[in-house]
Amino acid sequence: MTDPWGARHEFVAGQRRRPGTFWPGRPMTGFVADDFGLGHVVLVVPDLAQADAFYADLLGFTLSDRVDEEHMKVRFYHCNGRHHSLAVAEVPGKVGLNHLMLEVKSLDDVGTGLDLAKAAAVPVLRGIGRHTNDLMTSFYMLTPSSFQIEYGHGGMVVDDVTWVAATNDRPSLWGHELTEVGRETAPGILADVASVMA
Ligand SMILES: [Fe+2]
Repeated sequence: MTDPWGARHEFVAGQRRRPGTFWPGRPMTGFVADDFGLGHVVLVVPDLAQADAFYADLLGFTLSDRVDEEHMKVRFYHCNGRHHSLAVAEVPGKVGLNHLMLEVKSLDDVGTGLDLAKAAAVPVLRGIGRHTNDLMTSFYMLTPSSFQIEYGHGGMVVDDVTWVAATNDRPSLWGHELTEVGRETAPGILADVASVMA
C-alpha cells in the first residue's frame, strides 16, 4: 500500500522470530526492539492533515503528541508501547525520509556509538541531547544513503489508558544542537511532491 505521496508500506503478520539469538556487531548491550519493533521513522510530508487521515484514520496509529514551532510542525504516533514508531514533519511541497531511530539498551552504548562515529568520520548532524516528548537521549548521524540515524537510549513507554496527547513548543529539553555539517546537510532524502506524483 502507498501513502498519499507514493511511499510504499508493507504489512505483515505472524513474522517468525527467534528471541535471544541476536549477537551485536560490536560490544554493546543490544537494541530495544522485540514487541516495540525496529525503532521509529520520521517522514517528511507536505500536509499534516492528509498524513493524519492516512496514518491514524486508515492505518490505526494513535497520536502521541505534537511539536508546534514556528518553522516546524511534527505529529508523533504510536502503535505499541513505544512513545512513537512514526512521526510526520510538515515541509510544504516536499516528501521524504528524515530519519530512522534505533534505541539501545544503555546510555553507554550511545556514548560509545558517538565515539565510534567520530573515529570513523561519520558526519554527526546533531550532537547529543534529550527529547522533550519521549525523553530519549540521542544523537543524529548521516548514513551513506543520506537519510539520518538517530541513535538513542531511554525512550518513554506510553499506556493508552492514561496517556494524553500534549503539544510541545520545542523538540528537545537540552542539546541536539545542529553541528556545522548538520547546518549544511539536507534534512534527509527529500523530493518535490510534484516530481513523485507525476
Ligand atoms: Fe527521532
